[in-house]
Amino acid sequence: MKFGDLRQMIDRTARIQICDHVSGDYMDYRFVEDVPHENDSRTVFGIGLVRSEYREEGVLSYGRNCYAIEIRLLEPETILGSKVLEYEAKDKMKALIINCSPVRTGSTAEIAKLVSEQLSNKYSVNSICIDDYSFAFCKGCRLCHNTAKCAMSDANVIEDIMDEFDAADFIVSVSPSYWADIPGQFKAFIDRCTPWCNTHEPHAYIKPGKKGYAIALRTGPNMPECERIIGSIEHFYGHLEIESVGHLGLTSIEYKADVETRKQEIIEFCKII
Ligand SMILES: Cc1cc2nc3c(=O)[nH]c(=O)nc-3n(C[C@H](O)[C@H](O)[C@H](O)COP(=O)(O)O)c2cc1C
Repeated sequence: MKFGDLRQMIDRTARIQICDHVSGDYMDYRFVEDVPHENDSRTVFGIGLVRSEYREEGVLSYGRNCYAIEIRLLEPETILGSKVLEYEAKDKMKALIINCSPVRTGSTAEIAKLVSEQLSNKYSVNSICIDDYSFAFCKGCRLCHNTAKCAMSDANVIEDIMDEFDAADFIVSVSPSYWADIPGQFKAFIDRCTPWCNTHEPHAYIKPGKKGYAIALRTGPNMPECERIIGSIEHFYGHLEIESVGHLGLTSIEYKADVETRKQEIIEFCKII
């Protein structure tokens, strides 16, 4: 299909991003009618939804949470050859792995590392640790229920983490049990995600279609405690409209060295991601 045909079908109020599929260069347009007609003869390679860069414009936009239709175009004479295929290889789906423990080098980190190694064969993997970020506790002011934005001065820190979520197709949260629940640092992060919680309108959004996995570990021998942690993570995913599609509970893990004997179990789990 040529862009000239597609332009007739696009909502005239939608924000548009025209992207050259081969070079990756793009231009933002406020309305489809602003897109120059010289694009009309170009072939449409694909259409998607991207976060709009028209962030702070007018009352209808909830700042960073406003979207544009991205249209990838090819020059009329482009042959679908090696250049395009090479570009496609770079367009791997993305996985975000979160170490929900404040310990950067412990057993949780070891499991997160193993998961990252397994997934990097298929996906572009980004790993973060909750301890990479410093933020205050949610004050429960509920201003975000009306504004979809956090009023606290360090809101940008949480937005940075949510940008990582937004960039990912799959999210894998790996959490130890601290007093039979997720660590306080991770809980504090979840509380600060209230602007994104779907129980109030307006609320902030991450792109739809993401899938979430939860891995819980603990030192004690019984699984119900792991299930509780998995439940907390899946509850969080649910309110962000991330679909929970798999979880793993690992008992009897205290130190990094204990992960070695569970390696195969974790590798098997990674096969479903
Ligand atoms: C503050 C704290 C509380 C803990 N509470 C529990 C608990 O309630 N039940 C349990 O089975 N393990 C508990 N553990 C053990 C951790 O779940 C276990 O050592 C885990 O491997 C820690 O991973 P990390 O070092 O990567 O944070 C606790 C550990 C800490 C540091």
